[in-house]
Amino acid sequence: MIIVILFLMHLIGHCLPLVVNSIINGLAAKYTCSNVFIGGRTVEQQRTVDVGSASYLNNVTIIVNRTDSSVIVYTKGSTIRKAIYRPGLGATLISDYTERQIRSQRFNLLSPPNIDQDYIPWPMGDKIVDHSYSSNVNRTALENAIDSLFIETNPKLPIRTHAVVVVYDGKIIGEKYASGFSKKSKLLGMSMTKSITGTLMGILVQEKGLNIDEPAPVPEWNNINDSRHFITIRNLLQQTSGLNWNEPYSEHSDVLRMLFMTGDMGHYTASLPLKDKPGSQFVYSSGNTNILSRIIRHQLDWIDQSIASSDGYGGGRYGFQFYLNKPANKNTTNRRFPNVPTDTYYAVGAQGQDVFIIPSEKLVVARLGATTAADYEWGADEFLQAVINSIE
Ligand SMILES: *[C@@H]1O[C@H](CO)[C@@H](O)[C@H](O)[C@H]1NC(C)=O
Ligand SMILES: *[C@@H]1O[C@H](CO)[C@@H](O)[C@H](O)[C@H]1NC(C)=O
Ligand SMILES: *[C@@H]1O[C@H](CO)[C@@H](O)[C@H](O)[C@H]1NC(C)=O
Ligand SMILES: *[C@@H]1O[C@H](CO)[C@@H](O)[C@H](O)[C@H]1NC(C)=O
Ligand SMILES: *[C@@H]1O[C@H](CO)[C@@H](O)[C@H](O)[C@H]1NC(C)=O
Repeated sequence: MIIVILFLMHLIGHCLPLVVNSIINGLAAKYTCSNVFIGGRTVEQQRTVDVGSASYLNNVTIIVNRTDSSVIVYTKGSTIRKAIYRPGLGATLISDYTERQIRSQRFNLLSPPNIDQDYIPWPMGDKIVDHSYSSNVNRTALENAIDSLFIETNPKLPIRTHAVVVVYDGKIIGEKYASGFSKKSKLLGMSMTKSITGTLMGILVQEKGLNIDEPAPVPEWNNINDSRHFITIRNLLQQTSGLNWNEPYSEHSDVLRMLFMTGDMGHYTASLPLKDKPGSQFVYSSGNTNILSRIIRHQLDWIDQSIASSDGYGGGRYGFQFYLNKPANKNTTNRRFPNVPTDTYYAVGAQGQDVFIIPSEKLVVARLGATTAADYEWGADEFLQAVINSIE
């Protein structure tokens, strides 16, 4: 399974309540552009499958133009919104800047190697060289656990699992896709991408010697007299920047304004006033992550993959753009996933996009879908427990 990384778009939230039409049109244009031009899906598949119960898509008109790889969305009497797909850069919603300005942007991109993934061993490619895995895996138990995620038990709250992959001790031991999806599918990662951003920042720290406890290199905060001057990269990573931010997906929230009405998301967030002392309050913010994205983009031409985690924040539950399963307030049973080890860290995106990394069990588990209910209501705790139990 390939998780589409959206450097500019970090989304979290349970549902997407109706807000101003322009935002809905923008959201529909951006999603459709990603799903059609990156995911290879059709508008109809998107409406019925990909985004779950997307009632906000019901009344919008969506026009895909394959000549210039764009998507236009409008509703009667409201602003037309357009998103464009650019190879190597993904889907971009036109906001603030003109389409011409956006199309003339030049980034120093590496061209992808001209190789057939099917001939390259996993994890770099898709070829599974070694089908064996340790005999301590109870295959029946594992398959039962995975199958359970594809069975709807509550018609009112369908979980709509699209993909599950279980990696144990460096090998794929379980993998299943909903009809229409495969290991080649590119699925929206939503806010899981925050964890990639945190990881990239970790590489920057390692390779460029960036000090995360110094003031973050943010031009808007250059003046030493600016109250935001001393916000550090650590504060941004831990979601404790102190910037005045609201994340809920409701009318006039900062996150909707940033994602769907703003051309420069890093600048939008960096221009907000300070509300709390940096480092003092945990406030989950997609804006902080966009500032980190911008720092990374300014500092680097290109970066690889690696991993970053940290001591918890947010009552012990948030690391460097990964969530943690550490106990809150030293109470060991008070964990997000009580049946899952405390060393687990995980990436989370809206509508049930989750990747769990469980070092003590040598497990990496990915689950993607279009779950309408609250996060994890696809049964993450029970599922992970069953996977762990399937290994002796
Ligand atoms: C779509 O339009 C119909 C008729 O105007 C309206 O009743 C309904 O609430 C609208 N649905 C959404 C999701 O906006
Ligand atoms: C699609 O885009 C091309 C290039 O911008 C344009 O010439 C054409 O008119 C568009 N097609 C439609 C149906 O809008
Ligand atoms: C494997 O799991 C299945 C289903 O949970 C169970 O019935 C069976 O006894 C297990 N086998 C072993 C060897 O533990
Ligand atoms: C910061 O404020 C001090 C005291 O008001 C002033 O003397 C100084 O010039 C200011 N520094 C900058 C860079 O604006
Ligand atoms: C620890 O957390 C659990 C689960 O939230 C709770 O039921 C229990 O009362 C807590 N124990 C203490 C000593 O606070």
